[in-house]
Amino acid sequence: MEIKFKDQLSLGVASAATQIEGGNCEHNWNDWYTRGNIKDHSSPVRATDHYHLWKEDADLMALMKIKHYRMGVEWARICPNEGEVDEEVIAHYREELQYLKEQGITVLLTIHHFTNPMWFERKGAFTQKENIRYFLDFVKLIVNVFGGLVAEYITINEPNVYATNSYYFGEWPPGEKSLSQAVSVMSNMAICHIKAYQMIHSMRESMGYQDTKVSFANHVRVFDPQNPRNPWHCICAKLLDWFFQGAITEAISTGDFKWPLKRSKDISHGEYLDFIAINYYTRSTVSGFGDGVKQDAPKNDLGWEIYPEGLIRCTAHIYQLLKRPIYITENGTCDNQDAFRSKYIYEHLKVISESNLPITRYYHWCYCDNFEWVEGESARFGLVHVNYETQERTIKTSGRFFTRMIEESGISEELYREYVEPLKYHY
Ligand code: BGC
Repeated sequence: MEIKFKDQLSLGVASAATQIEGGNCEHNWNDWYTRGNIKDHSSPVRATDHYHLWKEDADLMALMKIKHYRMGVEWARICPNEGEVDEEVIAHYREELQYLKEQGITVLLTIHHFTNPMWFERKGAFTQKENIRYFLDFVKLIVNVFGGLVAEYITINEPNVYATNSYYFGEWPPGEKSLSQAVSVMSNMAICHIKAYQMIHSMRESMGYQDTKVSFANHVRVFDPQNPRNPWHCICAKLLDWFFQGAITEAISTGDFKWPLKRSKDISHGEYLDFIAINYYTRSTVSGFGDGVKQDAPKNDLGWEIYPEGLIRCTAHIYQLLKRPIYITENGTCDNQDAFRSKYIYEHLKVISESNLPITRYYHWCYCDNFEWVEGESARFGLVHVNYETQERTIKTSGRFFTRMIEESGISEELYREYVEPLKYHY
């Protein structure tokens, strides 16, 4: 039952700007909300009001002994109109970053996490190759203003999830249902990452820093055939794996664009990650071209299978492609009552600790309950409970468990008995 974390493993928490900040920004998620597409009708304008409560949140993180924080910045807030930069917003983020530093909390900064300013969205966002320059302008601005405070960057969060949900399934803004557009978005985002990778390195180097680390947050899942003896299930599992994550992982990591992605003449073969960043939640059980869930398996409150071994299976595969230190940049679960989150965390950290992979960071998703995209406020992923009416934060039992693990650099028998043993998953 006992787990001792390997020396190099540090625990942290993650969040994303749109999901916690709140505020009436002109971006595609506020637009999507206004058009009635959030299941529980909650709005990103409210979220957790972190934009105003950032200091309280930083203090709470420090109280929880958290030393690593993956956070985002809101493009639409910084650049509300094309060519415009809001200096007050820059000053606000600088104050927050500075304060986190003073609390001994190291930031991993996400530049793009699903949300686009409306002026960029109206131009076709990442569907258009000529729009790549707007993203790169933003990256340049970010490094100019925050480069002295932040050494580690995630350029883009989960390009595959963004591309498929927004342009293939049509469930996220702008609600398109076109495979070819989804492929264009993935191809263009891969180019965006590679160019941003080069830019962040060269800019920080000319500022005199040698500690720059850049990656993209790669959402990976296991695709297993529902019936491993059924050839159709097996073919579909392989194809979905390649379409959803295989092709884009290779393109972004090494610059090798393979079908169905579109090659770009100005990208050459190389190595474009300083660390492998993995966002892992679940497995898909495949019997056709769609998502399926294994029967009789433990599930979270959104019906996602809980499958800890999948984290290692996916990560090991990617590590073969490019041998880099590994950060788990997101892992967590929707557990509205905090009934099994500690067990989920324990089981994922157990497989991490038992594996031979060089996993050096684990960022739990999420620091606090937040605006969970189309699910709105109804899906709670936090270690910290948020009362959305009062914006009061309360550390959950799983949050206390997290702090104890940080303090003990592992999970002792006693900790296991207190926090994990009594918990059960539902099926
Ligand atoms: C995203 C987060 C999201 C989480 C849980 C990840 O795919 O990066 O923004 O909240 O999954 O759904």
